[in-house]
Amino acid sequence: MSNFEISRTDQVLINELTDTAELLLNNHNKKPSAWEPSDLIPYEQGLNYKTKLWTPDDYPLSDGIRSSIYVNLLTEDNLPYYSNTILHYLRDSPALLEWSHVWTEEEAKHSAVIREWVHVTRALDPVMLERGRKVQMGKAEVPNPQSLPDVLGYTSFQELATRVAHANTGRALDSERGGKLLMATVAGDEAKHHIFYSELAKKTMEIKPSAMVIAVRNQLVNFAMPGTGIPNFVRHAARIDKARIYDRPKFLHEVVIPTLGKWSIDDLEGLDEEGEKARDEINEYVIVLASIVDKIEERRQREDALAS
Ligand SMILES: [Fe+2]
Ligand SMILES: [Fe+2]
Repeated sequence: MSNFEISRTDQVLINELTDTAELLLNNHNKKPSAWEPSDLIPYEQGLNYKTKLWTPDDYPLSDGIRSSIYVNLLTEDNLPYYSNTILHYLRDSPALLEWSHVWTEEEAKHSAVIREWVHVTRALDPVMLERGRKVQMGKAEVPNPQSLPDVLGYTSFQELATRVAHANTGRALDSERGGKLLMATVAGDEAKHHIFYSELAKKTMEIKPSAMVIAVRNQLVNFAMPGTGIPNFVRHAARIDKARIYDRPKFLHEVVIPTLGKWSIDDLEGLDEEGEKARDEINEYVIVLASIVDKIEERRQREDALAS
C-alpha cells in the first residue's frame, strides 16, 4: 500500500468511528485552547541580535535543558509533515477532517510560541536553531503509520510523550523568564490531543479489537519520539535522558502504563489468534521495559547517593 491510499478496511472503520469522532471533537472544542501566545512572552527582556550577539551566558542553562528546548521546538516545527499524514487518513469524515484542522492549528501555535519565547529569552543560539530547522524540515522525516489503527496507536503514545517532555522541560526552567508557564501551557494542549486520539483508539478496540491491538503492539514496540531528522538527535536525546527530562522510566511510568491502562487491553474480548499474540507481545514488551527501567532507577539511586 502506498502512503497515499486508504484501504477499504480503513474507510469502513472511519464510517464506524464517525459518532465518536463528533463527540470527541465537540468535547475538545468546548474546552478551547484559551491562551494567547503574546501573554506568555517576556518581551521586555528582548534584545536585538544584530547589536547583541548571542552567547550561552545570555541565559545560562544546562546542556540537557537546552537540548530539550531545541528538540521540543524542532519537533513542533515538523508539523507540516505530520499534518500531511493525519489529513490523509482523516479526510474522509467531516468530524475527523475538522479535528485534523483544529489539531494542525493548535500544533502550529506551539512552534510559534516556543520560538518567540526562545528568541526573546535567548535560551538557544538562534543561528543553530535556524540551521537545525532547515536541516530537519529539509528531510521531512516523520513516522509513516500504515493504517488508521496505526495512526491512532502512534498518536496516542506520541501526544502523551510530548506532553511529558514539554512539562518536564518547563519544570526545569525558571518562572522569571516565563518558560515554566509557557511549557506547562503547551503541555496542557498535548494532554488534550492525547485524549482525542486515545479515546478514538479505545472506540476502535470495540469495533475492531484485533486490528487495534496489533497496531498498538506495532507502534509501542517500535515507538520513537519524532525528531530523528534533527541534527545530532542522538546526542541531544542522550543529554535529555541524562537530565531526566524525558527518558525510559518516564516513558514507562507516564506514557505506556497510563495509556495501556486506559485501554484495558488485558480485559478485551473477541481477539483472534493474531490479536491474542499481539496482546501477549505487548505484555512481554512492558515486562522487558520495566526490568530495564528498574536497572536504570537502581543505577541512578547509587549515583545520587554518591553525589550527596
Ligand atoms: Fe505540540
Ligand atoms: Fe499535540
